[in-house]
Amino acid sequence: MNNSQKDQQMKEEIIKKKQEKDIFIIAHYYQRGEIQDVADFVGDSYAMALAARDSQSKNILVAGVDFMAETAAILCPDKTILSPEPAATCPMANSITAEHIRQYRELHPDTLVVTYVNTPAEVKAVSDVCVTSSNAEKIIRALPSDKNIYFVPDQNLARNIARGLDREIEAFDSSCPIHAVVSRDEIIKLKALHPEALVLVHPECDPEVVHLADYAGSTAGILKKVVETDAKAFIIGTESGIFHAIRQQCPDKQLILASEALLCPNMKSITLHKILYSIDNMETVITVPQDIACQAVVALEKMIELAS
Ligand code: 13P
Ligand code: SF4
Repeated sequence: MNNSQKDQQMKEEIIKKKQEKDIFIIAHYYQRGEIQDVADFVGDSYAMALAARDSQSKNILVAGVDFMAETAAILCPDKTILSPEPAATCPMANSITAEHIRQYRELHPDTLVVTYVNTPAEVKAVSDVCVTSSNAEKIIRALPSDKNIYFVPDQNLARNIARGLDREIEAFDSSCPIHAVVSRDEIIKLKALHPEALVLVHPECDPEVVHLADYAGSTAGILKKVVETDAKAFIIGTESGIFHAIRQQCPDKQLILASEALLCPNMKSITLHKILYSIDNMETVITVPQDIACQAVVALEKMIELAS
């Protein structure tokens, strides 16, 4: 049996067993194509959180990095949240601690702490509101204009929103190591090679890159843009996993990756094997200590309220 036949066999086994065990699989667009194929829902980080909350299944398997599984666990205290690879993490999310926010708050008691969902639960627990890339601008626009904002941990997202809203935002000094590789020079080079292509990037990219783009938005936003525009070619500035979802809907459009390095090793550490093991053994169950979950859910619910 060759590798693709083995994959096909594993996919069929996963699909059969997840139904038998009432497991709803939620995957991020950065997952391997074969994992997106076995998922019940594929989306950006915000849509994944809502899909977990709204699922009728007792068990949710989150194919994504740890903060995505934690978010599901916080929003769904009555469901069992499974991770096929609990070591899959987000280095940017881990760059900030709850202690840092506590110390900041002591010095700036009136500032609102706006926290990207790419953070550990402990950080969400000491935040005023969470955001994702799909709703950050809308949420910050809804916050009182006389309040200062401290945005953690992604400084690129903060700077891109600040420019869009023409509002000052203080930002923690961190960024996504994957999106940081997209350079202004590379975009200029690719635009010269493909003058007909639209440039679509994630707002985790450097503001200089976003400035050159025709559109900046979440992974779901980028997919929607490709589907809805008549253009035939796109330079894409986000993780390469999005190509699988785009190609399913637009097989004839030309996709050019803005950098060969747009590959998140943590997202890619999840495999069909690990998903099958997770389903067979109902492992690893992701839980968040109750005191932290009770506080973190307030910032997450506030996000959902303001984003709706
Ligand atoms: P989205 O919210 O667009 O899915 O992005 C999540 C992420 O981790 C981007 O690197
Ligand atoms: Fe984190 Fe960047 Fe990977 Fe997204 S792409 S999970 S922000 S390291």
